[in-house]
Amino acid sequence: MTPEELSKFRRRTTPKLNHFIPVRPTKQQTVFLLLDDVLEVLFGGAAGGGKSEALLMGAAQYVDVPGYSAILFRKTFRDLALPGALMDRSKKWWDNSKAKWSSSDYNWTFPSGAKIQFGYLEHEGDETRYQSAEFQYIGFDELTQFSEQAYTYMFSRLRRTTKLHVPLRLRGATNPGGKGHEWVKKRFNLPSGRVIEEGAERAFVRSLIDDNPYLDIEMYERSLEELSPITRAQLRSGDWTAANSGGKFRREWFTIIGKSDIPDRRHWQRIVRHWDLATQEKTEHVPDPDWTAGCSMLRVGALPPSIRDWMMETGQTPPPPPYWIVLHVARFRKNAGDVEEAIAALSANDGHHRPVSIEQERGASGAGIVAAYRRHVLPHTKTVIPVWAKGTKEERAAVAAGFAKEGRVFLVEGEWNEPFLDELSIFGIPDVHDDQVDAFSGAFKALDKLDFIEDQPQAAQH
Ligand SMILES: Nc1ncnc2c1ncn2[C@@H]1O[C@H](COP(=O)(O)OP(=O)(O)OP(=O)(O)O)[C@@H](O)[C@H]1O
Ligand SMILES: [Mg+2]
Repeated sequence: MTPEELSKFRRRTTPKLNHFIPVRPTKQQTVFLLLDDVLEVLFGGAAGGGKSEALLMGAAQYVDVPGYSAILFRKTFRDLALPGALMDRSKKWWDNSKAKWSSSDYNWTFPSGAKIQFGYLEHEGDETRYQSAEFQYIGFDELTQFSEQAYTYMFSRLRRTTKLHVPLRLRGATNPGGKGHEWVKKRFNLPSGRVIEEGAERAFVRSLIDDNPYLDIEMYERSLEELSPITRAQLRSGDWTAANSGGKFRREWFTIIGKSDIPDRRHWQRIVRHWDLATQEKTEHVPDPDWTAGCSMLRVGALPPSIRDWMMETGQTPPPPPYWIVLHVARFRKNAGDVEEAIAALSANDGHHRPVSIEQERGASGAGIVAAYRRHVLPHTKTVIPVWAKGTKEERAAVAAGFAKEGRVFLVEGEWNEPFLDELSIFGIPDVHDDQVDAFSGAFKALDKLDFIEDQPQAAQH
């Protein structure tokens, strides 16, 4: 390699840095910082990969150039001011430097005269505050919290005079999920993330947790456990498909109805509360055990009245009966004794006339469970039946998915709706919880089985 080639190679593989950037970029951050000639770059994917840090580094790359101006956005001022967020980090970086902070304008002025400003775009139209401003670097942290309109508006603020030798850059950093997930995904052609359209100037850099050695992985994993499965899948893996579906169920198949929209009693066919049991408590050693989940489901011969009316008004042909109405899904993580107590309490609440079914694994241990529940846990419940788990979880869920897809399954409005739909929509992705899905698919089977059992009077609650 000639010295000339060597220096060219170095320029290609070493981003421009300066002493206002007090950290060494990781590999992915380096890629992000090298893309000077790409107008729009999204640094996306796994949480904790160093995306926000990279955004700040990017802003600081040209602060030695007089006249350079950068702005960094968060959605709200509150987000901006959070400890650990960009503004706070910038203070750690520059409080003891020659850069000057203005607490009224939220900006830094560097010795060259270059500026880095902080801003927020909370409400529609907030972007017009910047209508006479000019920036060469515009960074959006947590891009999926913004509207596409706010983002594209800022495009018009990306300018420079001919004398200013800095690139024009629009940069985003984000995890998947959030209000703007769909537009961001489309704009950057995710999840594949290749540069889209001929001549388009967009690129995607994937954030990877393993790439950031500065992250305390253990603490991070622990904080993930608190989240809903869908958020967890998104954050852990930076999965851009998780928001839509694991491929088996789709949110849109389920219509949420009010309690008063449950068809009249004369249309009721069967009702059950079906349990998928798990008896592992959450402990330090088992931070993410399975859940016990109980799905209460009603099968009816008529559509919910409002759905029926709406279909008639809009000239749609209703799907054939029967229909299934998920009344409630309960779930908890407790030890064996507390699980029994919780199930007994729920059955009392459902009414003792509501049949209870319990999923059983084939084998010696399974056989005794229903007998024990009949005798000790649910002595007042009229019908307690076993439902044997047959086939794979996917096969069992396929029946439920088939009916749901035909628009024959409804959910009664309740706090449980979101976690339930979240779990359904990511079912199929490896290593996510599927206890509610199991309880749901098992409930169909339990209702079939109840057809062969003597007639049960039904209770009206839930
Ligand atoms: N190059 C680096 N050198 C030193 N520390 C770094 C570097 N990059 C990131 N970090 C640190 O790693 C942690 C995670 O980085 P950062 O917050 O930028 O990640 P993120 O991808 O934006 O995370 P989130 O998804 O939570 O927004 C922070 O404490 C940050 O200061
Ligand atoms: Mg961040």
